[in-house]
Amino acid sequence: MATTSLDREILAPEKGYAISSQPYGIYVCPTCKRELELGPGSLYCHACAVSYPIRDGIADFIVEKLEENSNRSLRVLGKMDSSLLLDFAAYSYEKYIYPPVCNLFGGWHSTCLKELARDISDIVGSQDGVILDVACGPGTYGRRIASASRTVYGIDASMSMLRRGARYVERDCIPNVHFARAKVEALPFPAGLFDAAICAGSLNHFSDTVLALREINRTMKAGAPLAVMCFVVSCRGLFKYRFIRERVEKERVEKGGGYIFELPDLDRYVAEAGFEGFRPHTHGAVLVFSARRRPAEH
Ligand SMILES: C[S@@+](CC[C@H](N)C(=O)[O-])C[C@H]1O[C@@H](n2cnc3c(N)ncnc32)[C@H](O)[C@@H]1O
Ligand SMILES: [Zn+2]
Repeated sequence: MATTSLDREILAPEKGYAISSQPYGIYVCPTCKRELELGPGSLYCHACAVSYPIRDGIADFIVEKLEENSNRSLRVLGKMDSSLLLDFAAYSYEKYIYPPVCNLFGGWHSTCLKELARDISDIVGSQDGVILDVACGPGTYGRRIASASRTVYGIDASMSMLRRGARYVERDCIPNVHFARAKVEALPFPAGLFDAAICAGSLNHFSDTVLALREINRTMKAGAPLAVMCFVVSCRGLFKYRFIRERVEKERVEKGGGYIFELPDLDRYVAEAGFEGFRPHTHGAVLVFSARRRPAEH
């Protein structure tokens, strides 16, 4: 292996994960979870004989064609990622997309990004260490909680979103935020790494909620907090209308679209994925919940 001593130190889970000027050393192969060799412009898995390119400083762990994926969000990304339209969506995301989404789906004046960011930050708490931001978009939440003593690893399936996030990080001189392109179903991180995990605005999009939560759970330390923002059935917002819920369900079954959760189902999925202490807090149909990774049973 061509890893440096710094890489080896970073890759040893029992030592904890110091902040490093070499962020690629922390990644493992998303398929076999073995260490990767850093070469010029790529990370290589010897076991899988697969090379993961590094584009614009962002490691890309998605090698398959997303346009053929069974999940609708990923298919759309496969067709449109890095297009002008997606770059524009990433650019306007926080300012022009978040407010109408909160009002329409959460309910009029249900909440806003500022309040949600505070909720998520409260769940993560004040602890230092390494935080995972799953399906991070342009690093919406991760950028807001990174600090000199707290490193955030954001992953997302969209290069447009990640590049936009990297630009914000550079523009605002935010320390310790690293981005990689990856799917939640196959995270490029070793087990037991993270001190906390965030997943905001994305859980409704994943094809298999329990599988996604289990993969997040795998990468977290026992007892580490999970902070999620998602949409649930409520008497507020567009999802209060049964015909809209039926339409979404039809899209899910026929085209691999997203879910709208019933609260008791979500509680069950979170427990099935290995978390405990599910604590929901609603703003209309926008739900923020916390849970903790259950310690392993002996
Ligand atoms: C609504 S955005 C939320 C972004 C950000 N977390 C926020 O709250 O602003 C949903 C994001 O999920 C990403 N996404 C959807 N399915 C994914 C998957 N299976 N794995 C990784 N990212 C995914 C999309 O690329 C998109 O950026
Ligand atoms: Zn591999």
